[in-house]
Amino acid sequence: MDYFLLQAHSGWRFIVILLVVATAIKMLIGWLGKQNWRSIDTNLLLASRGAIYVQVLLGVILYILLQKWTNMRFTAEHTIILLLAVGGVEFASARAKKAAGSAGKFRMAFIGLAVSFVLIFVGLQAVGGLFAMS
Ligand code: HEM
Repeated sequence: MDYFLLQAHSGWRFIVILLVVATAIKMLIGWLGKQNWRSIDTNLLLASRGAIYVQVLLGVILYILLQKWTNMRFTAEHTIILLLAVGGVEFASARAKKAAGSAGKFRMAFIGLAVSFVLIFVGLQAVGGLFAMS
């Protein structure tokens, strides 16, 4: 069970990274290229949000099962920083929803996703880095 969850949590990171990076690039192109906000943009944000929540859910279950809370370095560097990365994606979708024009939506979404990606990068250092495999 632990092994299966760890493999799922480890592998799912690539889906999260792919979606966050691809969506951020799409938002940047939309912002700089002065494009109109379309339903695909809303859906990409929704997919990134869904993917990161699946990852957190797997992580929280693992954290409880593996009793990692005694390892403060891991908790601070992986758990807390990655929960903040979820905040970045939340910021992106909430602000994009609120912003009036397309440019504002793209800008806010890009900023939130870029912050989230930096936090994912930093938070993965405690488990060997972005592409580390166990
Ligand atoms: C975007 C969010 C996250 C990503 C991309 C991510 C990614 C990873 C990766 C790549 C590993 C290493 C897996 C391996 O050793 O093969 C890992 C381990 C782990 N993660 Fe996460 N994680 C995220 C969020 C979380 C959260 C929020 C928690 C806890 C609440 C968590 C708990 C754990 C635990 C307990 C391990 C096992 C560490 C060990 O065996 O030493 N993760 N995570």
